[in-house]
Order: sequence, then structure tokens, then C-alpha cells
Amino acid sequence: MSVRHWVVTGGLGFIGSAFVRQVLCERPEIHVTVLDAMTYAANPANVADVARDPRYRFVKGDIADPAAVDRAIGEGCDAIVNFAAETHVDRSILDPEAFIRTDVVGTHVLLEAVRRHAVARFLQVSTDEVYGHVEEGLSTEDAPVRPRSPYAASKAGGDLQVLAYHATYGTPVLITRGSNTYGPFQYPEKLIPLFVTNLLEGATVPVYGDGLQIRDWVHVDDHARGIAHVLECGTPGHVYNLGCANPRTNLEITQRLLELTGRDWKASVRHVTDRLGHDRRYALDASKAQALGWAPRVPFETGLEETVSWYREREAWWRPIKSGEYKAYYERQYAHR
Ligand code: DAU
Repeated sequence: MSVRHWVVTGGLGFIGSAFVRQVLCERPEIHVTVLDAMTYAANPANVADVARDPRYRFVKGDIADPAAVDRAIGEGCDAIVNFAAETHVDRSILDPEAFIRTDVVGTHVLLEAVRRHAVARFLQVSTDEVYGHVEEGLSTEDAPVRPRSPYAASKAGGDLQVLAYHATYGTPVLITRGSNTYGPFQYPEKLIPLFVTNLLEGATVPVYGDGLQIRDWVHVDDHARGIAHVLECGTPGHVYNLGCANPRTNLEITQRLLELTGRDWKASVRHVTDRLGHDRRYALDASKAQALGWAPRVPFETGLEETVSWYREREAWWRPIKSGEYKAYYERQYAHR
């Protein structure tokens, strides 16, 4: 069995840490180096179960810093999987600059490192948001990129560089574009963990506008498994959508979360001013990744129930997060709405 070294950037975040836990538990031949800047959503507790594994190594650093990237690569690596990103749309509306630095400049720095070190594979973890609002039908990988938020535009900027490096230098790149992801260890600023933790605390939940926006949900373990599968089996230069065809309106999600937490609609739901430029619908065609052999395993209903139970049992994980920086952000984001 040949030992392989994968550098995982952003490996202390939500999807990155699920990927790291999965790879170290299921793949004895892989060594992992996590490169993470430890910004607000990173959490060492997310990898506590695997951090003592001798195949795990951690380097603190920013992907936009070439020296930090070189430290993570060390004597060399077989693949870089880039999860490091600023990812929250609402934060990008308040403050877009950090998104450009990490999602655009950071991606460029990684691509240069891939060339310098002759890394065999670079996988860019991207998002269905680059396709923009989808009025009808499903987005295939060749759909035009029409981002509509500063976040989505920064991710699209990263994707375009990745594809340009393939065309220009023959860099062995892959891109995955995932849909809305849910599951354990998700920082409670996104819809599901924000609503679940608010409901468990007895607080209200802020539904943007009419709540009829549609998102397509994939469980984080399925998303992580899809990324590993594309990394190993995908064709360089290609994009692969990772979605499950689980469309739900935000009101449907809210209703189910109220049921699972035993809370009442009237007392708990607050309709607030809509997000600026809010995309109404995302919908992915994931048949290309499925033809490659990826098959999501977690049914949405089961996954959602298990996620709510996880947050109920892991207050020690999320309560400390919902103070300090988080409180200041929450005030800034929601107080005036
Ligand atoms: O589609 C993939 C994308 O999904 C990822 O690339 C992003 O990183 C991730 O943040 C997510 O983007 P969304 O903007 O769709 O996720 P968010 O959880 O922020 O919002 C989901 C929906 O819920 C959206 O229609 C806005 C709505 N919402 C969200 C929050 C935080 C509310 O109604 N109230 C809220 O407080």
C-alpha cells in the first residue's frame, strides 16, 4: 500500500473537517496535513476525534500566504484539496473584502504552489451559488456562471482561475460545486444550525422575506465522500456538481425544525427584511458525479433528525461559539431587521 499525503486547506471548518475525519477513519494509506488560518468558523474541536492519529498534521496559516502553503506541503504532497474559504453570503454583503483575499487571492496562491511543487491533483471545493438564481430546471456543469452575491462572485473568481490554469499550464485541477450542506459541526450562522440552536435556546428564528426561497440539501458526509471520489476518479479540467435533489423551501425547513424541537410557529418565527439580492432558487443536476460512481447515502429526513439530535446533545460545542464575535455579528446582522 503506497502512503499518500493530502494537504487539506480549511480542514478545521465544517465540510473540511468532515472530509478529514472521513479520510483518516476510512483510508489507512492517506496522511493528511490540515492548513487552516483559524478564522472565526474554524474549530479544533471539529477534528478532536482524529487529531492524535500519527497520520494527522496541523499547520496554522493562510492560503493567501505562499510561505504557509509551502510549510504545509513540506517535502511534497500528492494532492491539495481547497476547502479554505469565506463562505457566508450575509457576511459577504456586510464586508466583501475578506472574501476576495481568501477565495480569489488564496486560490491563486494555491495554484502557483501546485505548479511549483508539481502536485499531482488540485481540487477546488466550490458551490452551486456560482450559477446564480435558477428560475427553472437544473444547473449542469456547463451552465453559465452568473454569481449574484459578493460571496458567489469570489467563489466564481476562484473557479475561473482554476480552469484557466488547466487551459494555460495543464495544471491537474478538478472543481466540485456542492449544494447547501447540513450536518454536525456547522457554525451556527447558516440556516439550519442557526435555527436549531436558536430554537433549543428558546429564541426566535429570523425567516428572510416570504421564506419561499428554495435550496437543495446534501448531508455533509455525502458531500465529503463526493469530494474524495472526484479527487480520485474525476477527469482533470472538469467540474462536478454534488447535489441530492432534495429541494425544500425555507418555510418547509423551518416547519420541520419546529416539530423536531417541539417549538410553536407563532411564538418562534419572525419574518424579517429579506437578504439583499437574495437568490430565490438553486437546483443542481448531479448526474455527472453520479455517473462517476458517487451516490449520496443519507436520506434528508433522517439526516435532519440526526442533525437536530446532535445539536441537542452537543451544547458544549455550540454554546461557547454563540458569544463574543458571534454575538457582535448577530447584532449587526439581525438587530435592525
Ligand atoms: O448553496 C451552497 C451554499 O449554501 C454555500 O456555498 C454557502 O457557503 C452556504 O452559506 C449556503 O448559502 P445560502 O445563502 O443558501 O445559505 P444560508 O444558510 O445562509 O441560507 C439558506 C437560506 O435560508 C437562504 O434562502 C437564506 C435563508 N435564511 C438564512 C439565514 C442565515 C433565512 O431565512 N434566515 C437566516 O437567518
